[in-house]
Amino acid sequence: MVLLALSAYLVYQIGCDLFRKDEPPPKPLEPLKQDMTLKELKKYSGRDASVDNRICLGIKDEIFEVTRGKNFYGPDGPYNCFAGREASRCFATFSTDEDDIPEGKDDLSDLTSDQKSSLNDWYENISSKYPKVGKVIYTPEDEVKKTK
Ligand code: HEM
Ligand SMILES: *[C@@H]1O[C@H](CO)[C@@H](O)[C@H](O)[C@H]1NC(C)=O
Repeated sequence: MVLLALSAYLVYQIGCDLFRKDEPPPKPLEPLKQDMTLKELKKYSGRDASVDNRICLGIKDEIFEVTRGKNFYGPDGPYNCFAGREASRCFATFSTDEDDIPEGKDDLSDLTSDQKSSLNDWYENISSKYPKVGKVIYTPEDEVKKTK
């Protein structure tokens, strides 16, 4: 009886394995190639299943996909504040405070030259490491909104 039960269990397990092999492997994601408005960019915060929880960020008005850095930028990461945002100001000022990023277009004219050079260094870092997706598209509505 015990042997019978055991072999039935084994047959069941093997059957499951065979069945599993029939499942298609998860399809690799296509590289993102797309200019985005700030609103579209917001979807790529790592929390939206409709875009496969992919993560993008904007720096110097260019968008990069940072999904493979999700330990940094994902919902539990230390730099999640940049995810789905044009985060130039945070890179320039070494801030991880989401509230530093204005809702509309960020006019960065108040940055000091040191801050601008930090921003440029981060741009080199991010752009050498992550695939470029496109550019940020600003709408007339973004221009109207005031920087804090
Ligand atoms: C006490 C403060 C901080 C510490 C100790 C720290 C530490 C680190 C370390 C160790 C890494 C590299 C991890 C790795 O490559 O495995 C890293 C990466 C990074 N840090 Fe920080 N950090 C700090 C603050 C900040 C701030 C304020 C910013 C804001 C701009 C920032 C932005 C970044 C970015 C963008 C990366 C690169 C992630 C990537 O490779 O995609 N960090 N940090
Ligand atoms: C980018 O910056 C991070 C954090 O300082 C560093 O660990 C990494 O080596 C840099 N990467 C490049 C390509 O500069």
